[in-house]
Amino acid sequence: MSKKENAFSLKFDTEWTYAEAPESTSHIAIEKKYDLFIDGKFVKPKSGKYFETINPATEKPLAKVAEANQKDVDAAVNAARKAFPKWSGLPAKERGKYIFRIARLIQEKAREFAVIETMDGGKPIKEARDIDIPLAAAHFFYYAGWADKLQYAFPNAKAEPLGVAGQIIPWNFPLLMAAWKIAPALACGNTVVLKPAETTPLTALKLAELIQESGLPNGVVNIVTGDGKTGALIVEHPEIDKIAFTGSTEVGKIIQRAIAGTNKKATLELGGKAANIIFEDAPIDQAVEGVINGIFFNQGHVCCAGSRLFVQESIQKEVERKLVDRLETLIVGDPLDKNTDVGAINSKQQLETINGYLKIGESEGLRSHQAKNKLPDSGYFCRPTLFFDVAQSSRLAKEEIFGPVLAIQTFRTVDEVIEKANNTPYGLSAGVWTDKGSKAFNLSSQLKAGVIWANTFNKFDPTSPFGGYKESGFGREGGLHGLAAYLKIKA
Ligand code: NAI
Ligand code: MG
Repeated sequence: MSKKENAFSLKFDTEWTYAEAPESTSHIAIEKKYDLFIDGKFVKPKSGKYFETINPATEKPLAKVAEANQKDVDAAVNAARKAFPKWSGLPAKERGKYIFRIARLIQEKAREFAVIETMDGGKPIKEARDIDIPLAAAHFFYYAGWADKLQYAFPNAKAEPLGVAGQIIPWNFPLLMAAWKIAPALACGNTVVLKPAETTPLTALKLAELIQESGLPNGVVNIVTGDGKTGALIVEHPEIDKIAFTGSTEVGKIIQRAIAGTNKKATLELGGKAANIIFEDAPIDQAVEGVINGIFFNQGHVCCAGSRLFVQESIQKEVERKLVDRLETLIVGDPLDKNTDVGAINSKQQLETINGYLKIGESEGLRSHQAKNKLPDSGYFCRPTLFFDVAQSSRLAKEEIFGPVLAIQTFRTVDEVIEKANNTPYGLSAGVWTDKGSKAFNLSSQLKAGVIWANTFNKFDPTSPFGGYKESGFGREGGLHGLAAYLKIKA
């Protein structure tokens, strides 16, 4: 073990790398190399290959991670298949106990998870610490409770598990997405092969250690790492009964084509381009705060981000001025600093994508405002940016940018804003800011999106179903509805 010079420095010269958790004396251990978690054990990849995951805030490598090939995916799926009769045959309350134990272990190791999440993916430590990790534990607690109550969830029928679930998750909420996927699958009696995203595999692998510690029967959860090629092997595997995917709409479409004509069930949680709507009667300061959170939370790497702002014309000037003022107070920089509001962009590739959109705004000659922060010398960072008077036809208003970039438009009437807000191929979420309950209810019934927030934004809860309309995907995760996606209902 090596001592730190300061709270957030790292050492790369030893077998282990250590970072210190904020306000803590405990050390965070990241191994140099991670194998695949198959049948309850960490095993070397048959591919013999490893890839690097880096810290996007420093561009330095954190660890080498196994790259699973066909044989590795076969081994993981076989382990899950073999474990299925035993796991699904356990008394439901016993399954619940294991899930509950995993929840408890996540809570115990919350600080370690938060630091690893922040280092591997670039999100601000305060978000990892206060939102991602507690919510991940909450999902396991919530679904532990459902395990022995499925007959109440689906009355007058017998609810049976599907079998082996292949689960592919993205890099924006790595541990939380693992929890959204694994917890309901286990509660329903399925077994799992999960693949984390290639830029953020470390918290899923930490979860694998903890699953081992929980005593969960071998093979119930298998975690394989790799990029899209490994993901495709899971999707195409004949012994997989269900695919649960969160990621880009593009890959969602590839998955739909790949499983067409098979018996595989699927839930797809894809992109978004949420409208956040401020009416003139809204509490303006609260709305501005909600808009800032809606787009800059997690650097805008959020499928339900409020990336299109619609402001009623009469309050345009006031809202713009307040947004600009608030933008200047955001702290952009070191994700491990507990005061940081906007951390590192997850990857070089994603930064290039976002910069491409900033160029589009420039070439359209749009009025804009960019935070004046000094950015760190290394790492992938992007200044929070506002574009005003964006045309409905602009790519900034139409496409998912997945970065800290807000496209602002105006409207005069309720009907006009409903039409504009719905004029998108996506439909994951929307936000409405108004003092009038009737307006909030009217909008929430007319907006074509799976989640509508009123006078708040980006609020998540394990009891609440989450999912999209249109090209934002299908199926729901969370809540009672999240169970249905992992069950066959027999009458
Ligand atoms: P992606 O959709 O390629 O990656 C998500 C996951 O899918 C990763 O685990 C990846 O390894 C896996 N994957 C990639 N190709 C696959 C395939 N053919 N079969 C099975 N699995 C596959 O997303 P990417 O390229 O990292 O990001 C591109 C854009 O996608 C972003 O700019 C953003 O707009 C959107 N995105 C949306 C997310 C959401 O939460 N809705 C999450 C991540 C990305
Ligand atoms: Mg990484």
